Amino acid sequence: MRFLFTPPAEAATDLLTLPWADPLERWQDERVIEIPQTGRTRHVVRFVAAGDGLFALKELPEPRARREYRVLRRLRELGVPAVGVLGVVVDRPADREAVLVSRFLEHSMSFLALFADPRGVHLTRRVMDAQVELLVRLHLAGVVWGDCSLANTLFRSDAGTLAAYLVDAETGEVHERLSQEQRDHDLEVAYGRVTEELTDLRARGALAADVDPALAAADLVARYEQLWAELTGEEVLPRDQQRLRIGARIRRLQELGFEVGEVEVVEDPAGVSRLRLTTRVAEPGDNRRQLFTATGLDVQENQARRLLADIACHRSRLEREEQCHVPDAVAALRWRAEVYEPALAEVPPSLRSGLDDAEVFHEMLEHGWRLSEAAGRDVGPVAAARDYVDSVLATAAGDPVAPALLRTARPRPAP
Ligand SMILES: Nc1ncnc2c1ncn2[C@@H]1O[C@H](COP(=O)(O)OP(=O)(O)O)[C@@H](O)[C@H]1O
Ligand SMILES: [Mg+2]
Repeated sequence: MRFLFTPPAEAATDLLTLPWADPLERWQDERVIEIPQTGRTRHVVRFVAAGDGLFALKELPEPRARREYRVLRRLRELGVPAVGVLGVVVDRPADREAVLVSRFLEHSMSFLALFADPRGVHLTRRVMDAQVELLVRLHLAGVVWGDCSLANTLFRSDAGTLAAYLVDAETGEVHERLSQEQRDHDLEVAYGRVTEELTDLRARGALAADVDPALAAADLVARYEQLWAELTGEEVLPRDQQRLRIGARIRRLQELGFEVGEVEVVEDPAGVSRLRLTTRVAEPGDNRRQLFTATGLDVQENQARRLLADIACHRSRLEREEQCHVPDAVAALRWRAEVYEPALAEVPPSLRSGLDDAEVFHEMLEHGWRLSEAAGRDVGPVAAARDYVDSVLATAAGDPVAPALLRTARPRPAP
């Protein structure tokens, strides 16, 4: 028998003494725990408490187990929400199938458990939202699921909404980027499987009376298409609104919980510009590290996200104006020297009122955004900074929280 696993080793060594020679279904070990309401399973899946952790063990043919191990590891690296994988056990005695060992996803529920709760019947919409988001994240990361269904997903509560995690990756494929056909294939599978699963729930009386399984599954596909278009669609940019439009698009994506990887403005021979964005999935802490490496600024995670988005905007403007490629590192340093420092220099020390630089800059961005919207054109960072100082900071001196509270103050037209 061989156990291939990713460190730390303690968890795996605790599992080595399990009765691997027996079929998983017949294990009687005291560490095996029964957990009701798991999704419908094709393979034998059992749960084991070992060391300080809880693990899910699934028995399946070796090639599939190895593939699932590989895909789950990759999903982790890509920051896609999925169960963590510990390892895979192969070459078991008596030619038994391999076993994939994943970490039990704490505080999660299968869709059956969700809907079994009497309040669950009204959850369809939120379950679908979470499922759509998971599928979009997977596709952005270049992964075809091959088996998208509610049973292959686990759900966790997340500040009033649900977050979906991929649990069954045995049919997954990782690519550089996905073709339309690959995405369509996943959507077809999802449509069929989700229709079946909701029909099944209805037969058990666990679905809200006004939910039609096929319509709900079709809605899932439609909402996927909508989110995908929002995240990846090209947009024509009128010349005088470029900065404004790019900023608006980045904000929309961030509000939807996504990150912008790269901003590209492509100008065709007729002089029409189109905006393309690469959207990616970010790990917590990722933005902060990236901003620090690029600019030397050490700020909070959300601040870093805003600043990186502004750097991306500045870079695309530089490339447009100077008609040449601007490398990441150069864009970041020029942004600091040409946008960030000059904007902050507008704030007299007496008006600093306890806010840190990145927070002041963030407030200026928000302020500039509203000014530009009211003016119907981009007012530019320095004008925004001046107006912010005059109309917000100057009236809120001495009160560090006031600028944020003043957000709703009516913006004056740009000078
Ligand atoms: N790591 C895990 N954490 C929590 N539950 C899990 C985990 N792995 C599997 N399960 C439960 O077992 C069910 C079946 O697992 P899955 O990988 O889909 O197996 P199958 O290939 O048999 O469909 C899931 O729907 C889920 O409820
Ligand atoms: Mg499954």
